[in-house]
Amino acid sequence: MPKVIFKSYDGTTRLELEADAGETLLKIAHANDVEMEGACEGCMACSTCHVIVDPDWYKKLEDASEEELDMLDLAFGLTATSRLGCQIILTDTLDGLTVRLPAETRNMLI
Ligand code: FES
Repeated sequence: MPKVIFKSYDGTTRLELEADAGETLLKIAHANDVEMEGACEGCMACSTCHVIVDPDWYKKLEDASEEELDMLDLAFGLTATSRLGCQIILTDTLDGLTVRLPAETRNMLI
């Protein structure tokens, strides 16, 4: 079971979880009461699942699709290692994946 580590924006809180490979970060967050909204439930229509991936891990992720990049452009507090949590699928090779939650999110559905 791969691990995923969620950190608060300022790094003061850290939650280390084990999850099934094949799950998205959004589903893992929802199953464990991590504060990731995910208003559109993975349809890439809201950007409220925005996460900031640790730079060392960012390089190991599959490239983002054009649709994901378009939605990320609308995310609050975009960084060079931002991704949508609903589009990151945990795999065994991502064991230890570390992400930070943004200070705020912007819901593009509203
Ligand atoms: S849950 Fe809405 S874009 Fe990811």
